[in-house]
Order: sequence, then structure tokens, then C-alpha cells
Amino acid sequence: MKIAIVGASGAVGQEFLRVLSDARFNIEELRLFGSSRSAGRRYDFRGRLTDPVVELSDNGGAFAGLDYVFVSAGADVSRRYSETITSGGALMIDNSSAFRMCDDVPLVVPEVNGADALVAPRGIIANPNCTTIQMVVALAPIHRQWGIRRVHVATYQAASGAGASGMEELEQQSRQLAAGEKPVVKKFVSQLAFNLIPHIDVFTDNGYTREEMKMYYESKKIMHAPDMDVSATCVRVPVMRAHSEAIWVETEKPVDVDEARRAFAEAPGVVLIDRHEACGYPQPLDLAGTDPVYIGRVRADLANPCGLSFWTVADQIRKGAALNAVQIAEYIERHR
Ligand SMILES: NC(=O)c1ccc[n+]([C@@H]2O[C@H](COP(=O)([O-])OP(=O)(O)OC[C@H]3O[C@@H](n4cnc5c(N)ncnc54)[C@H](OP(=O)(O)O)[C@@H]3O)[C@@H](O)[C@H]2O)c1
Repeated sequence: MKIAIVGASGAVGQEFLRVLSDARFNIEELRLFGSSRSAGRRYDFRGRLTDPVVELSDNGGAFAGLDYVFVSAGADVSRRYSETITSGGALMIDNSSAFRMCDDVPLVVPEVNGADALVAPRGIIANPNCTTIQMVVALAPIHRQWGIRRVHVATYQAASGAGASGMEELEQQSRQLAAGEKPVVKKFVSQLAFNLIPHIDVFTDNGYTREEMKMYYESKKIMHAPDMDVSATCVRVPVMRAHSEAIWVETEKPVDVDEARRAFAEAPGVVLIDRHEACGYPQPLDLAGTDPVYIGRVRADLANPCGLSFWTVADQIRKGAALNAVQIAEYIERHR
């Protein structure tokens, strides 16, 4: 396989290097792209140094002969360069929000709708928003067996969801507070250390944020469930890595909790940790850097006879971004 990463220096780009090191396909060539800020840098990959990062430009020749280009450099960069990137026939797997809701761009989580990846008329496949990926992996087994009508979700999103600079800011604020200094606020709208911020991305006209509306629209598209409604509250929390979500679903038919546990335990990409004792549930600190979507705290919703309530944790840079994108490529290779 001949592969490129656009945005190699970023939080997701660096994770691509780690995930691709373990990927099941043979990598014959790896090209890295970035802005002028990281151009020239080289990274360790499979025990050797990569070729230097090339500054992204309109030069389509730089993408000639590639099979897959994993792009994680923000929506503006994806929009601006998608034609250049795909001009030589490479399949662009895009981590940004630029194309997710386009009818001619599949939005794919392999455990849920892998087959959608096999038809990509523009040569672009979109990777969903990180909070949506982990939620739909958890919803899919319930939806298949009981049919989901509604979803309420509250997210607890790690600082790294805002990229490498988000992690740096949380670290720096924690050090500053420990030293009795005033924390510097740059990346987030207010101090994140020792705080919660119920505001991710910009506000939309209906009072929800764009992050919350991504969960609404993207879940319907991935799950092929136009009638399933999703109401989200997205909160940034002072966790370094791995997002958590408290989810309440209303199903068409009542769900037996033990059967739901069994469905989760058997679902692809899911690990159930659900013991009624201290630490018998998923926590982001323990699970950062791992692949699965973890589910715990499964219980009947006392406020709804057709309701089920549970808790999920997943590393959003891995399953929520780089790993999911690589799994899309692996799915395509298996089903070609
Ligand atoms: N972090 C997450 O958890 C997460 C999860 C899912 C999806 N995503 C998405 O993935 C994308 C990247 O996020 P991130 O968290 O990795 O951000 P990040 O750490 O801030 O990295 C941004 C990357 O974009 C590159 N870049 C910026 N402007 C560029 C340009 N004009 N040309 C070429 N490269 C450019 C940067 O390269 P230089 O260093 O050279 O400027 C850097 O490699 C975003 O679209 C984000 O929404 C992130």
C-alpha cells in the first residue's frame, strides 16, 4: 500500500503513525504532509525515520500513485485541497467535518455501516465526529435488536479533542495552578483545569452547539435511522485523553437489561466492563491509548419503561479518529 498522512504533526496525525505501524497491511511507501510549520520534520515509523514532511500545496503530483490519504488538518484544509489530494486516484479518508453530510460522501464506522465505504463516488470517505463514533458503536447492537427511537447523551470530552494545543493548555494550567500562578487561557473559552465547560464548537440558532448537532445529524446518517432523534449536551472536561458519554436510549420494545449486556458483550469493537463494585466500570484514565469502545453501568432507565441507560469510554484520538480511519481502509481492502 502507498499511503499519505496530511496533518502528520497533529494529535491525530501522530496517532495515525502509531496505528499504521500496527496496521494489517503492508506499507510500501508513506508520504507526510503539513503546513510550513512542520515541513522538513521526520518521524519514527516502524523503526526507521520517515521522509521529511512536505508542505501541502496544489501540486497534485505529490499525491500520484497513492492508495489512501488520511487527512486530519481541519475542515478548511480538507475543502481547499480535496481535489488535489484525490486527483491521482487516491482515496481520501477525511477526519474533518468538511464532507460528512454530503450525499455523495459516505460517513463510516466499520462496525456499524462498513459497506457504505465501498461506494465513494468523489473518492472521499468521511470519518465521523469522535463523540459520534463511540456512541454509534454502542447504539448499533441495541438498535439492531430493539430499535432505538430517541437518544439523550451527555458527553465528557477530553482536552485532546481540541488537538495537541488543547493537551498542552490543560497541562500548563495544571502546573500553573499547582504553583499558585494565574492559569493562562488561550485555546479554550475559559480555564479548563479544575473546571467543566459546557460549550464545544460554536453555538447554532437552536441553542445547541455545532458539536451537539454533529451528533444529531451524523448518527442518523451512519445508522441509516432518519427517525432516530438525538439530543446531546457536550462538555469539555479536564481529562487529557479519552471521551466518556452517559447515554439514555428509548427503544421501540422494552429491553431486558441482561439481554442488553449480552448484546453489548457480543458487539464488534465493544468491551463490556460492568461490575457493581469500585472501579467495575470504564474510566478514561485507565483506557486512554486503547482501541475498543468500553461500556458499563448498564441499567434500566427508571424514568422510561422503554429506556436503557449506560456509560461509554473510548480513546477519541484512536477509535474516534485515526484507528477508525485505518479500519475503514482495512474494511475496503478486505471487501474489494
Ligand atoms: N483531536 C481529536 O480528538 C480529533 C478527533 C476526531 C477528529 N479530529 C479532527 O482531526 C483534524 C486534526 O485535529 P488534531 O486534533 O490532530 O489537530 P492539531 O493537533 O491541532 O493538528 C492540526 C494539524 O493540521 C495541520 N495543518 C494545519 N494547517 C495546515 C495547512 N494549511 N496545510 C497542511 N497542514 C495543516 C498541522 O500541521 P502543522 O503543524 O504543520 O501546522 C497539524 O498537523 C481536525 O479536523 C479535527 O476536527 C480530531
